[in-house]
Amino acid sequence: MREQLAKIREEALSRLSAVTSSAELEELRVRYLGKKGEMTAILKQMGGLPAEERPKMGQLANEVRAAIEEKLSEAKRDVEARALELRLRAEAVDVTVPGKSVKVGHRHPMYIALDEMKEIFIGMGFTVVDGPEIELAELNFDRLNAEEGHPSRDWSDTFYFDREEKVMLRSQTSPMQVRAMDTLPLPIRMVAPGRVYRKDEVDATHSPMFHQVEGMVIDKGVTMADLKGTLNTVVKSLYGEDTKTRFRPHHFPFTEPSCEMDVQCHKCGGAGCPTCKGEGWIELLGAGMIHPHVLEMAGIDPNVWSGWAFGFGLERLAMRRFKIDDLRLIFENDVRFLEQF
Ligand code: DAH
Repeated sequence: MREQLAKIREEALSRLSAVTSSAELEELRVRYLGKKGEMTAILKQMGGLPAEERPKMGQLANEVRAAIEEKLSEAKRDVEARALELRLRAEAVDVTVPGKSVKVGHRHPMYIALDEMKEIFIGMGFTVVDGPEIELAELNFDRLNAEEGHPSRDWSDTFYFDREEKVMLRSQTSPMQVRAMDTLPLPIRMVAPGRVYRKDEVDATHSPMFHQVEGMVIDKGVTMADLKGTLNTVVKSLYGEDTKTRFRPHHFPFTEPSCEMDVQCHKCGGAGCPTCKGEGWIELLGAGMIHPHVLEMAGIDPNVWSGWAFGFGLERLAMRRFKIDDLRLIFENDVRFLEQF
């Protein structure tokens, strides 16, 4: 038995010295120290020894076991250290390799123009509000005085979601006037930018989706003079102090009186050129004094309160601001185009 133990010890220690993986290590542990391992087999033979031999053999067996255990943990440390070393080497970062450059995006010219607008209005005490693109026809039309049968309600112009024509993609940001009247405390000064939808074919000046900015003021004693003064201030901040404007009578169902505001052509200074189609003026926006009936429908007394509103197309404003001649460029998002602004 003594020789057997010596042999186990020698063999176990030499094998453990050569171990390279934790799987191998585990295999050797089971082989020598496991329940069905070689050491257990030896101990089972102890019963057959003469009584005076047993303590000595027991002690020897314990020594061998302890030696194997010690070697096991030593080998385990080595294996782990080697694994760590390998991992560190594999994960090492070579700080001398040149980095990949990150492409920085560009602010869209239309949003540059919108931000400039917002700045100007916020500076005059307006609040910027946001609203849904899926709108009730009631707010898009009825509450704005465009009753059943109004040409703009026709399904050939408007994207409806249902046969009853109750829910639609808003065709203008003007329903935001109604939403503001219904939710904001008086007096109100608000602008509401956002997407609108109409059944238009795509060309250089049309798109079935475009952006409008709506604006509205309701207070006591507000007149058309406030409308003209405010809009003139905004246009001059955008296009320069010496920009000339004119107001033409027009019709909108929700304003009375209504007007359109033109700005003198920046290309020809009013003489007439292809940009302004020979007119000398370029139409900028629709506006007017809020119709008393629209105020009444919102529960606002038109004998106490009055207001004005305007709405304009944001793409057109941006196109003029940055001298872009095709609307499609605004939506294509070609980086070579966007990079120029
Ligand atoms: N909603 C009108 C349109 O899409 C524009 C407009 C005109 C808005 C007059 C207004 C307004 O607020 O007062 O053509």
